[in-house]
Amino acid sequence: MQKVIIIGGTSGIGLEMAGQYRQMGCAVGLSGRNQNALEAFQQEHPAGTVATACFDVQQEDRGTHFHQLIEQLGGMDIFVYCAGIGKPSRTLDRNLELSTFQTNATGFLDLTIQAFQYFAEQGQPGHIAGISSVASNRGMQAAPAYNASKAFMSNYLEGLWFKARKLGLPIQVTDIQPGFVATKMAQGNLFWLVPVPKAAQQIIAAIAAGRKKAYISRRWRLIAWLLRLMPSSLLSRMT
Ligand SMILES: NC(=O)c1ccc[n+]([C@@H]2O[C@H](COP(=O)([O-])OP(=O)(O)OC[C@H]3O[C@@H](n4cnc5c(N)ncnc54)[C@H](OP(=O)(O)O)[C@@H]3O)[C@@H](O)[C@H]2O)c1
Repeated sequence: MQKVIIIGGTSGIGLEMAGQYRQMGCAVGLSGRNQNALEAFQQEHPAGTVATACFDVQQEDRGTHFHQLIEQLGGMDIFVYCAGIGKPSRTLDRNLELSTFQTNATGFLDLTIQAFQYFAEQGQPGHIAGISSVASNRGMQAAPAYNASKAFMSNYLEGLWFKARKLGLPIQVTDIQPGFVATKMAQGNLFWLVPVPKAAQQIIAAIAAGRKKAYISRRWRLIAWLLRLMPSSLLSRMT
């Protein structure tokens, strides 16, 4: 039975992925701060197939909780970092900017390093996937720390992809870049909105295929490409 750990699995994309992985017969380890959501998911599934850990990825003890979760699940084959926040920071709210960076970048960095080290020590195939964003492709004024933190994620994941090969380790790395997915985070965004089940299905398929990078849905590749090419003068008028 494949063992999948999803950091940030109490709602939205992470929760849906957890459900789909369970339907595929995987054992799932879920984390988040919402204890009720973790308990509800655990109760819906047979004993021994789900493990949970309630912790805040911004806190220093995240690594301890993460390793307890791996132990509870009896191992880990796939690691998915899905935890994230993305709120408008129109007046450049310092607390919001720092908090966004701590969740999306610092928490991601620490747990992803630990996942890589876990797989390296096991000497068995492992897979690391990060849920970044199409927003990673450009800096934007609406939520600067969100775009910057996602750029960090995507860049770091590419670095790990190269490192696994350089070290000859059987670790696969996938950078997932969704466009707008219909969760509470995307409220108000109706442009090419991807239903949550479809997004989860495509993410799981990209991981299974060992893709280095995947846009969710595929058509968002075009937006990523346009964003990278767009002159700053035009982008500043559009955002
Ligand atoms: N929805 C979109 O349009 C979209 C587009 C591109 C990328 N993404 C990315 O997809 C990922 C999932 O987003 P979503 O749309 O599914 O939003 P969501 O429903 O708000 O899910 C966010 C998840 O992150 C967890 N989380 C947030 N802060 C945390 C913290 N400090 N400690 C631990 N867990 C924390 C939440 O758990 P708790 O609340 O229980 O802590 C929740 O499980 C995010 O990284 C987001 O940036 C989303």
